[in-house]
Amino acid sequence: MSFITYILFALSLIVSNSIASDDTSSIITQSQSISDGETIGSPKGLFELGFFSITNPNKRYLGIRFKNIPTQNVVWVANGGKPINDSSATLKLNSSGSLVLTHNNDIVWFTNSSTNVQKPVAQLLDTGNLVVKDSVTETYLWQSFDYPSNTLLSGMKLGWDRKKKLNRRLTAWKSDDDPTPGDFSWGVVLNPYPEIYMMKEEQKYYRFGPWNGLRFSGRPDMKPNNVYNYNFICNKEEVYYTWNIKDSSLISKVVLNQTSYERPRYIWSKDDELWMLYSKIPADYCDHYGLCGVNGYCSSTNSPTCECLKGFKPKFPEKWNSMDWSQGCVRNHPLNCTNDGFVSVANLKVPDTTYTLVDESIGLDQCRGKCLNNCSCMAYTNTNISGAGSGCVMWFGDLIDIKLIPVGGQGLYIRMPASELDKANNNTEDEHRTNSRKIVVITVSAALGMLLLAIYFFYRLRRSIVGKLKTKGNFERHMDDLDLPLLDLSTIITATDNFSEKNKIGEGGFGTVYLGKLGSGLEIAIKRLSQGSRQGTREFINEVKLIANVQHRNLVKLIGCCIEREEKMLVYEYMANGSLDYFIFDRTKSKLLDWPKRFHIICGIARGLMYLHQDSRLRIVHRDLKTGNVLLDDTLNPKISDFGLARTFGGNQIEGNTDRIVGTYGYMAPEYAIDGQFSVKSDVFSFGILLLEIISGKKNRECYIKKQTLNLVAYAWTLWKQGRALQIIDSNIVDSCIVSEVSRCIHIGLLCVQQYPEDRPTMADVILMLGSEMMTLDEPKEPGFIMRKESVEKNSSSSGRDTSSNYEMTMSSFIAR
Ligand SMILES: *[C@@H]1O[C@H](CO)[C@@H](O)[C@H](O)[C@H]1NC(C)=O
Ligand SMILES: *[C@@H]1O[C@H](CO)[C@@H](O)[C@H](O)[C@H]1NC(C)=O
Ligand SMILES: *[C@@H]1O[C@H](CO)[C@@H](O)[C@H](O)[C@H]1NC(C)=O
Ligand SMILES: *[C@@H]1O[C@H](CO)[C@@H](O)[C@H](O)[C@H]1NC(C)=O
Ligand SMILES: *[C@@H]1O[C@H](CO)[C@@H](O)[C@H](O)[C@H]1NC(C)=O
Ligand SMILES: *[C@@H]1O[C@H](CO)[C@@H](O)[C@H](O)[C@H]1NC(C)=O
Ligand SMILES: *[C@@H]1O[C@H](CO)[C@@H](O)[C@H](O)[C@H]1NC(C)=O
Ligand SMILES: *[C@@H]1O[C@H](CO)[C@@H](O)[C@H](O)[C@H]1NC(C)=O
Repeated sequence: MSFITYILFALSLIVSNSIASDDTSSIITQSQSISDGETIGSPKGLFELGFFSITNPNKRYLGIRFKNIPTQNVVWVANGGKPINDSSATLKLNSSGSLVLTHNNDIVWFTNSSTNVQKPVAQLLDTGNLVVKDSVTETYLWQSFDYPSNTLLSGMKLGWDRKKKLNRRLTAWKSDDDPTPGDFSWGVVLNPYPEIYMMKEEQKYYRFGPWNGLRFSGRPDMKPNNVYNYNFICNKEEVYYTWNIKDSSLISKVVLNQTSYERPRYIWSKDDELWMLYSKIPADYCDHYGLCGVNGYCSSTNSPTCECLKGFKPKFPEKWNSMDWSQGCVRNHPLNCTNDGFVSVANLKVPDTTYTLVDESIGLDQCRGKCLNNCSCMAYTNTNISGAGSGCVMWFGDLIDIKLIPVGGQGLYIRMPASELDKANNNTEDEHRTNSRKIVVITVSAALGMLLLAIYFFYRLRRSIVGKLKTKGNFERHMDDLDLPLLDLSTIITATDNFSEKNKIGEGGFGTVYLGKLGSGLEIAIKRLSQGSRQGTREFINEVKLIANVQHRNLVKLIGCCIEREEKMLVYEYMANGSLDYFIFDRTKSKLLDWPKRFHIICGIARGLMYLHQDSRLRIVHRDLKTGNVLLDDTLNPKISDFGLARTFGGNQIEGNTDRIVGTYGYMAPEYAIDGQFSVKSDVFSFGILLLEIISGKKNRECYIKKQTLNLVAYAWTLWKQGRALQIIDSNIVDSCIVSEVSRCIHIGLLCVQQYPEDRPTMADVILMLGSEMMTLDEPKEPGFIMRKESVEKNSSSSGRDTSSNYEMTMSSFIAR
């Protein structure tokens, strides 16, 4: 029944080029009035003040809107709960500096007046702030930023002016077409250690966690980044949160929205019209306030979600085990008071700070002593974790609303009786228990794994013995050491209808690919090597050797091979959706791949590649990773294919060298293309290109945006340096993407294509970075191969279609340049 409330960080390009509007004035002077139909614009024309209705034309509101943004453009409403039923209302500035909204002689809304005003004026500023000031003394009498509705704009303050006792907080609209204040609000609460809460009426609904000098304790992702700066100010006069956008050509807003929905979508189109979602909170299940009760903590990745803190046990074990965590946890052993100590727990969003005491002047050691001296002090930590850490905050009473935050969390010291401490230091009973549970789990799964392996080997052995009984020629001896099922030529001829034209699904430098159907109904893809191709033979053997030894769900599976007479064929599982390039570079098909699907594909390719690089029995460098070599199965899972060029490494070897540079132009790392040095890092480079292509929907080598002579990498890099990297996003995914996620992917892509291999991350790093919003990413350095269009054209002229495998030809012409 609960509402889902999101705050949206939506982002859009500026619509008009901020040209000052000519006829609308930005000032209302004393005794001037505006009536329905008239507007006041901000000097640069971004905002306007005026009357409007939302859906019902008989409900008119006075408010501030983004002038040229057609939808969801309202940022502030004066008379939210009191709509006007016709268009006869007027807004006037009276001589005591009060803005008064009247309708049929009734005062609908007004701002506070001041007694000694000389010459009041009201003005709409470029920030979207409507201010009333005394133009003689230049003192501000009133401003709309002090009375926000549901929207927080760049530069606005959310929080308290302690002197004026002014609390600026957002209140959600009752519904999308009714700006009457709803049940949800969002603002700073002046606990001893102040915090930001989202409240449903008087009830706490979600908590940011206190500001720890670097960020909010529960929002490790909210720290200065490429798009936004955030800050929290807490001093004697003021306590507030504020953010601003770095690139002034972008428009952004945070909206408190109490409509219930699964996944809000804000659209940002490059044609400058609409909003796009940047991020939303609450982010996960654990963000429900106090989900795990007192002294419990929540982890969205654990199962069960809630656990008791160390030294505590469920108050009502039965309820707890049936996932009713509301009653929380109690101590295993009571505190002794004089004889207690502390255990430290890492990686947390610290508990609710309602009952706390703060002393900024002391550090952690003194804090410990102070906490120990007061029997009701339950926990302590630093108030400022920046640098070495400073300040002291102590918690009294039960600890509530703690969340585990694996990356970017904070440490907390929790009071324990001496008996628990002994255990803690001596490998506690608890730990022992979990350890034994782990051992059981591991044992069971290991046994299961062995069983499966045994079955697998038995099956394979049988198949290969059957295979080896068949007669073979010279070439086949190469294949002898491979445990790979051999298929009869006759089987394949039947499956492909004698290699009929209609079964042909692809063609490359090596030969032709056919679709076939085995008697069992299983669809297979058959790669038939051109007869007499010496080059192909080498690659054929290579591919068979490698792929027969790897198994991963993101690598295409080799089912068997066929070597009979002059025929050499590889048989794969058939991938119904073909290759990735077929989707992303196609105008209509690319619409089928929305952002969540593309992200899934990116993560899959990354996992497949990581497996090749480090987890497989052989360490393998693919050397020809590109969109054409990523196949999609019927549910759009990606699988890496085409191992014809792949190389293995011995255990310690990290880098190889070759005088035969093969690969595909546009994806090759500079050190490989120029010096023939390949390593896992040259694959990482190709992965980076692939990532940028998936995000932009453009080919690296064919990306000449706005007639600039840059390839995609260069274009992305140029935009990145200007802080506008989001512009490369494919317009087909703007309505489905979460900007923070895409932005992270662009960042990762640029890290992968850095010029020097040692700067590039490993695939294991990439997977970590893809999986964690919290991680701080390094600033990328200049990418390798920023090419000018001329040279691209010159080189591509002799390379033929890039879907084919004319690798060597491509390369030699490139090197001969
Ligand atoms: C509009 O509201 C006024 C009161 O503010 C009322 O007197 C008037 O009848 C209403 N007009 C309509 C058309 O409902
Ligand atoms: C201006 O309007 C406010 C609010 O309605 C009122 O309190 C004040 O007396 C007005 N001042 C004058 C000079 O009319
Ligand atoms: C006007 O001032 C009073 C008291 O100073 C305050 O309670 C009220 O909220 C203010 N109203 C507006 C609209 O500023
Ligand atoms: C709330 O979010 C929904 C879904 O994105 C959107 O349609 C609606 O306009 C939003 N409401 C407000 C007041 O922004
Ligand atoms: C605390 O521990 C000390 C020493 O172990 C013992 O003498 C004392 O009685 C205990 N106090 C409480 C309240 O349990
Ligand atoms: C412990 O701290 C609490 C909260 O600040 C305070 O009310 C209480 O008096 C303190 N007790 C002692 C013994 O200092
Ligand atoms: C936190 O500590 C850092 C480093 O000591 C200091 O520069 C910063 O001003 C502190 N922040 C606050 C809010 O006290
Ligand atoms: C650990 O356990 C041993 C006995 O098992 C005990 O003598 C000792 O006091 C305990 N505590 C620590 C901190 O070693």
